[in-house]
Amino acid sequence: MMPLSILLVLLLLCLLTSIPPSFPDAISPPRGYFINCGASKEETLSGIRWTSDGEFISVGNVSEIKVTEGKYLVRTTYYYGGFDGGSEPPVFDQIIGGMRWSTVNTSANYANGLTSYYEIIVYALSTIARHCFGSSDQIMSYPDDPFNRYWEPFKDENPVDNRSPSPFSWRMFDVSVNGKAFYKGLNVSTAGVMVFGTQWPLSGQTQITLTPPGNSPVGPVINAGEILQAVPLGGRTLPRDVIAMEELARRFDNPPPDWRGDPCLPSSYLWTGVYCMGSDIVRVVKLDLTDHGISGTLPDIIANLTALTHIWLGGNKLSGSIPDMTNLNNLVSLLLQENKLTGKAPESLRGRSGLDLQLSPVFNF
Ligand SMILES: *[C@@H]1O[C@H](CO)[C@@H](O)[C@H](O)[C@H]1NC(C)=O
Ligand SMILES: *[C@@H]1O[C@H](CO)[C@@H](O)[C@H](O)[C@H]1NC(C)=O
Ligand SMILES: *[C@@H]1O[C@H](CO)[C@@H](O)[C@H](O)[C@H]1NC(C)=O
Ligand SMILES: *[C@@H]1O[C@H](CO)[C@@H](O)[C@H](O)[C@H]1NC(C)=O
Repeated sequence: MMPLSILLVLLLLCLLTSIPPSFPDAISPPRGYFINCGASKEETLSGIRWTSDGEFISVGNVSEIKVTEGKYLVRTTYYYGGFDGGSEPPVFDQIIGGMRWSTVNTSANYANGLTSYYEIIVYALSTIARHCFGSSDQIMSYPDDPFNRYWEPFKDENPVDNRSPSPFSWRMFDVSVNGKAFYKGLNVSTAGVMVFGTQWPLSGQTQITLTPPGNSPVGPVINAGEILQAVPLGGRTLPRDVIAMEELARRFDNPPPDWRGDPCLPSSYLWTGVYCMGSDIVRVVKLDLTDHGISGTLPDIIANLTALTHIWLGGNKLSGSIPDMTNLNNLVSLLLQENKLTGKAPESLRGRSGLDLQLSPVFNF
């Protein structure tokens, strides 16, 4: 998926060279989950506690973390050391909930012996670059950045005299982007300042020019820059369907291993046996787990999947009774034969015209 628009955020923190950046004496570690995949025990590195992924993963490649509502940042870091000969560095998709976030391609970084990392503010902004200029050292992060953002060094070609100490505690300049005035007379003090435009879609080479007034003894200095990309959001699965499918997954003793996350999205990653339709609002329309050896029970909440047209669960080991499915007005086919379901089929299902109903012989109608 190509970037639709690039949102550029420039951090202009013109710290005067004579005043060192100051941070509170004790910085509390950034909040969040720091998960070290494959680690067997907890470890503290540079003040951050990394836990093992044991309790977060299933089938080795799906992690589940409960987050509260609101924005959150997800960063994934991959290092491929070429353990299998290095001829095919891993390439795979990253998905958060129902959103296909990005493709991870470790090839280029593997060739340079580097890690690959990806960052997104869920839902919407993916980090393209975050650099601190004029530094040639290592990536800056916690505790220099209390939020543990990663600032990659970027050697710039600013004239050195730009960095001479200012006689003032501020620097003034105009900002233009690709030759268009963006901000006139910005006065940046040591407290920092933020300016942003809500409608400046950018792509390709972008030139940002900072022009000091003619009488200014010093020019502006860009200390750091961040580029974020707006991630196009696809449709979404009706939450009511998601909740019902999650309950179904819980009630099965052995659901297919990919019954995690969003059942319908991204559309190329549907749950096994689940079929969906819709664009803005996506619904579950068909369930086909015929002969999958599934045991467990059918929850009443299946009746909330009101877009279902086909339920094909024949040839499994399902037990318990058949829930009331009166609500499922679109149902044309309900195949539950060859299971261990007991009791009577619900009244409402019998003789519904146009419904192909197949149940085990133990049912008496
Ligand atoms: C991964 O990136 C390399 C270049 O860095 C490229 O040659 C290769 O085609 C990419 N692989 C896939 C599957 O996109
Ligand atoms: C810039 O702002 C500071 C206060 O932060 C003020 O003292 C100073 O006069 C301003 N400079 C100009 C040129 O307006
Ligand atoms: C399921 O449907 C019932 C009845 O329409 C409704 O009260 C309930 O909130 C639904 N459950 C969910 C999780 O949406
Ligand atoms: C990774 O996940 C996919 C789909 O969830 C599954 O089919 C596959 O077996 C998993 N691979 C491993 C190594 O667990």
